[in-house]
Amino acid sequence: MTTQIMVCMGSACFAKGNQENLEYIKEYIEDNNLDTNVSIAGALCENKCSDGPRIIINGNEYKNVTREKLEELLKTI
Ligand code: FES
Repeated sequence: MTTQIMVCMGSACFAKGNQENLEYIKEYIEDNNLDTNVSIAGALCENKCSDGPRIIINGNEYKNVTREKLEELLKTI
C-alpha cells in the first residue's frame, strides 16, 4: 500500500519548519529506497496555522511536527 504524506505548504507551516521537514522526508525516502511506496504532496493552508507545522500521513493529521517527531513518524511508514 502506498503511504501518502501531505506537507502543509502554507506560509505559516512552511516557515515554522515544514520547509526543512519536506527536505528531510525526501532524503529519508531516497536513503531508504521508499520511492515506490511513498507519495509526497503539498497541502494548502487549512487555517490551522497555530498547530503548525502540520503533516498528514494517510489521512492522520500531526501537529507541531518537530524534526524529532518527524523521525519517529517516518519510522512507522
Ligand atoms: S499554514 Fe499550515 S495550516 Fe495554515
